[in-house]
Amino acid sequence: MDSYFKNIVLIGMPGSGKTTIGRQLADKLCIDFYDSDKYIEEAEGMSVQQIFQNGEDAFRYLEHEAVKKINENIPCVIATGGGIVKNIENIRFLKSNGIIIFINRPLEDIISDIDIGTRPLLKDNKENLYKIYEERIQLYKKYCDYEIINNKSIDKIVKDIISIIK
Ligand code: S3P
Repeated sequence: MDSYFKNIVLIGMPGSGKTTIGRQLADKLCIDFYDSDKYIEEAEGMSVQQIFQNGEDAFRYLEHEAVKKINENIPCVIATGGGIVKNIENIRFLKSNGIIIFINRPLEDIISDIDIGTRPLLKDNKENLYKIYEERIQLYKKYCDYEIINNKSIDKIVKDIISIIK
């Protein structure tokens, strides 16, 4: 499939910049932007934190259903939740319609400015990011088509992604 007619799917740790980069990228390409967490919140009329009160599995089920639907809107940019890689099925169908880009932001930078209040998996403790990173880094690397290091301006990252897909 020509990359113009593919989705651009951003994966990576919470706080890595997926939403900010994704929104700007979609603007530049004049295509739709979806943030899977926002999509779930709007569909359920509940925040991610409220959904997590019914357990992580409840959230993962809704996440799976949401990305399945979003994935059909080709071409679009999708900012996924950090845990999307926990279910290989998510990756299978996202890959079938899209190109997967791992936004790899240095962990120290994430820790310096992440809002833990809106991220229930961190359980109000930034140190939990280290464990999550250890569990997931290999998955992000394995499932992505390209990796971008987020240690530069958002403008530059957006340009780099556009040059990858063209
Ligand atoms: C999660 C990351 C969050 C959100 C949920 C679970 C995770 O999204 O989907 O809190 O498992 O890493 P962000 O990556 O946008 O923070």
